[in-house]
Amino acid sequence: MTDLSPIDRAKRAAARAAAAHVEPGMRVGLGTGSTAAFLVHRLGERLREEGLRITAVPTSERTAELARAEGIEIVTLGQAGWLDLTIDGADEVDGELNLIKGGGGALLREKIVATASDRVVIIADRAKKVGVLGAFPLPVEVIPFGWEVTRKLIEDLLAGLDVQGRGTVLRMRDGGPFVTDQGNHIIDLHLQRIGDARQLALLLNQIPGVVENGLFLDICDTLILGAEDESVEVTDLSQVPDAAPVTAVDNIFSEVSD
Ligand code: 5RP
Repeated sequence: MTDLSPIDRAKRAAARAAAAHVEPGMRVGLGTGSTAAFLVHRLGERLREEGLRITAVPTSERTAELARAEGIEIVTLGQAGWLDLTIDGADEVDGELNLIKGGGGALLREKIVATASDRVVIIADRAKKVGVLGAFPLPVEVIPFGWEVTRKLIEDLLAGLDVQGRGTVLRMRDGGPFVTDQGNHIIDLHLQRIGDARQLALLLNQIPGVVENGLFLDICDTLILGAEDESVEVTDLSQVPDAAPVTAVDNIFSEVSD
C-alpha cells in the first residue's frame, strides 16, 4: 500500500503500533473509524501470520463487518464480560489525554466498551492533538423522541457555560437525520473551545433525552500518535502530570469485572 495519503500513513503507523499491544487470548474492544480500520486489518494480518487468537467486541456494525472479514472471532460485550484492552480512534485529544469522540457516530458503544476495559489505547494521527478541546464539533447522542426539545435544552445549557461557540446541528445522512447503531440521532455542538469539559459532560448527561456525549474524560490510558513519516509518539497517562485522577483506582467501574 504505497499510495496511502500522508494522513493515512500516520493513522496506519499508530494503528500498527497499537496492534503490538494485543496478546494471545486477550478480549479486545475494537474501535470505529478509519484509524481503527487499520488496526483491525493489522490484527487480521497477525492472525494469519502468527496464529494470534483473540476474542473481540466491535464498537459498531461497520467494525464488526471488517473484523469478520479478517477472520477475527467476535463476541458480544455480555459474552466477554469484561475486556483486557480496547483500542480506538479519536477526533481530538488534549494534553491530559481527554478526548472528543463520535465523529463516526459510534460514541455510545465506544464509551460503553472503553469503560468495560482494563486498559484503553487511543490511536490517531498527530494532527488530532489540541491544546483545548472543542474545535471539533462535540457529538451528543439523543433519542429521536422529542429531539427538538432536547436540542433546546442543550442550547439553554450552553448559554450559561464557558464555551466559545453555541451552534447545534442535527447530523444528517442521505437526506434524513443520521441514525446510530442504537437507533438514535446525533446533535453536533459547535463550541470552538470548551472551558470546563468535566462540567459540560456531567450537565449534558443530566438532560433526559441525551443518551451520551462524546467527551471521553479519564478514559484513555495510552495515546499513540502517528506521523506522516510513520514514526509514533507514545504517551502513557502516568507521564501526564496534570491529569486529574478521579480516584485511586484507574477505572472506577473495574470492580464490576470481578
Ligand atoms: C467514531 C469515532 C472515531 O474514533 C473518530 O471519529 C476518529 O475517526 P478516524 O479514525 O476516521 O479519524 O469516535 O465514533
